[in-house]
Amino acid sequence: MTNRQHKIGSGFGAWSTAEEVLAGIDLTGRTAVVTGGYSGLGLEVVRAFAGAGARVLVPARRPDAARPALREVPRAEVRPLDLTDQADVRRFAERVVADGAAIDVVVANAGVMACPETRVGPGWEAHFALHLGHHALVNHLRPAFAPGGARVVALSSSGHFLSGMRWDDVHFRDGYDGWLAYAQAKTAAALFAVHLDRLGGPAGVRAYAVHPGSILTPLQRHVPVAQQSALGWITEDGTPPAGFKTPAQGAATAAWAATSPLLDDLGGVYCQDCDVAEPATTDDMLVGGVKPWAVDPAEAARLWALSAELTGVDAFS
Ligand SMILES: NC(=O)c1ccc[n+]([C@@H]2O[C@H](COP(=O)([O-])OP(=O)(O)OC[C@H]3O[C@@H](n4cnc5c(N)ncnc54)[C@H](OP(=O)(O)O)[C@@H]3O)[C@@H](O)[C@H]2O)c1
Repeated sequence: MTNRQHKIGSGFGAWSTAEEVLAGIDLTGRTAVVTGGYSGLGLEVVRAFAGAGARVLVPARRPDAARPALREVPRAEVRPLDLTDQADVRRFAERVVADGAAIDVVVANAGVMACPETRVGPGWEAHFALHLGHHALVNHLRPAFAPGGARVVALSSSGHFLSGMRWDDVHFRDGYDGWLAYAQAKTAAALFAVHLDRLGGPAGVRAYAVHPGSILTPLQRHVPVAQQSALGWITEDGTPPAGFKTPAQGAATAAWAATSPLLDDLGGVYCQDCDVAEPATTDDMLVGGVKPWAVDPAEAARLWALSAELTGVDAFS
C-alpha cells in the first residue's frame, strides 16, 4: 500500500457538491472530455465544468438520449462513441486530435454495473471492455493533451472491495458473475490511474481514481428490485437512503480531483469524499477507503501491459 493514501484536508467533504468544489475555479478556455456525461454523476460533472466556463466533449453511445439531457448545458458537445468498440474509440479520438482541441481533463466516468453477461468485440467481457475502452481513449487522445499538462480522473468504486484483478480469467470465460465483473473493472479503474500517473507524471499528465460515494442513478438498473429493496436502496418517498449522496454530491470528488490545486504535486491516488482516501480498515463499502490491491504499483503495471497488448495502443510507455 502506498503511503500516499492519507487525507490531505481539502476543506470539502462527503456532502459537498460539484458546484461547491468548483466555486472560485475558472475553467474558461479549458476543454474536458467526460465519458457517460449525460446520465447520473457524469451529467452533474458536465454541468459543473460547464458552469465554471469549460467546453465539455461528451462521448455518447446513445447520442439521441445525450442531446436532450445536455440541451440546457452551455458548451457541452455530444459526440457518438461506444467505448466497447475499439475502432469507434480510435475514430473519436482522431477527430478530437484533428480538430486541434487542447484537452485539459478526461473524466473516465462511463460504466455499467452487474449487467447480464455481455460479450463485445473479440469476446471481451463488457465491464472489463469499458476499462479497455478508457485505456484506449486516453492513449489515443494523448496528442491532444494540453501542452501545459492534463488530468485524467477514473471512476472507480468501493465495489473494488469485492475483487482484485482476476489474472487467470479477466474475461470470465470460466463462469460469469456480474458483481465480480463490476468489482474487477473498478479495481482496474483504480490501477489505471496509478500507472498512468507514473508514466505521464513527468510530462504533466496526472491521474486520479475516485470513489464517488453511493448514489441512486440509472447505474442500478440491472439489479433486481427485490435485491435493491433488500439492500435498503429503495425508500418509500424516493429520497436517498441513509448514507447515500445526491448525484450533485456524487459528482463532487471527480470535479475536485480534476481541478484541485492541492493535487498538483500528488497523483496516482484513490480519492473519496473530496479528499485522498485512507487505506480501508473495514469491508463496509459505505465507509470506503482503498484496498491494497487497487493501488498496488506492480498490479497497475501488469494491467497496463495487458491493456496495451489487448488494445494495441500505448502512448505513454
Ligand atoms: N452511482 C453510484 O453509486 C456509483 C458508486 C460508485 C461508482 N460509480 C461509478 O460512477 C460512474 C458513473 O455512474 P452513474 O451512477 O452515473 O451511472 P449511470 O447514470 O448509469 O451513467 C453511466 C454512463 O455510462 C455510459 N456508458 C455505459 N456503457 C457505455 C459504453 N459502452 N460506451 C459509452 N458510454 C457508456 C452510460 O450510457 P447509457 O446511458 O447510454 O447507458 C451512461 O451515460 C460509473 O463508472 C460507476 O461505476 C457509481
